[in-house]
Amino acid sequence: MKATTPMVSVTPMTVSAADPAPRVATNRRYLMCEPRHFAVTYAINPWMDPSQPVDTELAVRQWRALAETYRRLGNDVLEIEPIEGLPDMVFAANGATVAKGRVYGAKFRYAERVPEGPAYLDWFRGAGYTETHAAQFVNEGEGDLLVAGSRLLAGTGFRTDPAAHVEAGAFLGLPVVTLELVDPRYYHLDTALCVLGPDEIAYFPGAFSPASQAVLRELYPDAIIATAADAAVLGLNGVSDGFHVVLPIEAVALAATLLARGYQPVPVSLSELRKAGGGPKCCTLELRS
Ligand code: ARG
Repeated sequence: MKATTPMVSVTPMTVSAADPAPRVATNRRYLMCEPRHFAVTYAINPWMDPSQPVDTELAVRQWRALAETYRRLGNDVLEIEPIEGLPDMVFAANGATVAKGRVYGAKFRYAERVPEGPAYLDWFRGAGYTETHAAQFVNEGEGDLLVAGSRLLAGTGFRTDPAAHVEAGAFLGLPVVTLELVDPRYYHLDTALCVLGPDEIAYFPGAFSPASQAVLRELYPDAIIATAADAAVLGLNGVSDGFHVVLPIEAVALAATLLARGYQPVPVSLSELRKAGGGPKCCTLELRS
């Protein structure tokens, strides 16, 4: 009797540590404010120099391209009317923090931006949001309060009062992780940390106190660590839908890392708004239902 050799088909396995995880985009709703009245007339962060020229028309064109990019990627973009005399109102991320349909209002640190808080809250009330809260403590919306999955990452050190972290967490029903910013160039959390997905972030460690760096290492051992060069072009001021990550065109190393991790970087140019210390995320307030 002839011995039968079992047929073994060998399929080469392609699993390796370098294989990116599959990423899924989910469509979002964003609130934005056209920079029709944008200018740099005061300096409340180190990026702002009122003696340098600003091209408002170019700012508007770049901003429209950003809004178009979001729409092309399948997101809804809503707009709030800009108000003359409020040149930073374009930075809609600072206008509120929205989660589970609840709106935690902003209360700005500097007098120049204080009227933006009520202006944004009025927009929400007019848009039919019924659960709104005018904050008791200073906070600059999603500039410092970033919803990351089931937690709220909350920055402090330059703008947002830590008491607002507690207030926001209680109102929005989210556990809060307080993070301390120490470099004045990265005065808002969204200039130093980007939420990519429910459990994934990118950040620049040098923007945080040693204790907060330890917290981030513990919570996000697989985080993308951005370079100083990426941070210095506001590369972390990006917007992720879970797959596409809209980020400043100058953040080349970060874009390459995102690609290697299975994300699709979508570079945009916002050179004019950067003169006020802002990037794509600053222009974008996510309306989470
Ligand atoms: N000039 C504005 C300020 O200093 C820029 C705000 C940028 N917004 C942001 N979400 N980081 O307040």
